[in-house]
Amino acid sequence: MILCIPSVLAPLESAECRKLLEEALWEDGRATAGHQAMKVKDNMQVPGDHPAAHHVGAVILKALASNPLFMSAALPLHILPPMFNRYSGGQTYGTHVDASVRTMPDGRRIRTDLSCTLFFAEPEEYEGGELIIEDTYGAKSVKLNAGDMVLYPSTSLHRVEPVTSGTRLCSFFWLQSMIRSDERRSLLFDMDIAIQRLTGGLPDQPLVHEATTQLTGVYHNLLRQWAEM
Ligand code: NI
Repeated sequence: MILCIPSVLAPLESAECRKLLEEALWEDGRATAGHQAMKVKDNMQVPGDHPAAHHVGAVILKALASNPLFMSAALPLHILPPMFNRYSGGQTYGTHVDASVRTMPDGRRIRTDLSCTLFFAEPEEYEGGELIIEDTYGAKSVKLNAGDMVLYPSTSLHRVEPVTSGTRLCSFFWLQSMIRSDERRSLLFDMDIAIQRLTGGLPDQPLVHEATTQLTGVYHNLLRQWAEM
């Protein structure tokens, strides 16, 4: 499942983060690329230990913790510290697949189930820079407003189209979900959304209430069956 989550950061918050990032130190993105990615990766990144990366990373993680759509869709177990990249002057990141296992700052290794890209520049500020994700149903092109984020399976092949004018500024990071399977996670997400719609949209009659409670029970029992921690 590919899901766009609007307004993860409010406009003011997003602008403040962007300013901090623009003033940060940037290095060649190949510094963190694996052997395969090295050949297709051409961008700039903020080093992980830079104060701006720490600060903005914390802002993003705090916002996500209280974002119901993100929590429902990702069912996160561990989230890697957000990283930051920048593309301009024709820079691009050719088709690649993200590493399946990554190391947290404390040395723990996590499996990358979901990839996240959060945009800091408005789409009209730069030409190109679409994130192209190859899904089971074909390729999807993603270019979002500042503060919005896309969540997609880390198993998918993806690329960033050349940025031919202006600057694309994003945060990117990975997470391990309690639900490894994208298919099961998508089912749980659909079910959760349907339950929320029922709870919010129907008159509170005893029968409706009972059925909603029953469905909520099924949701949690499926989660109990499938969750890994
Ligand atoms: Ni990638």
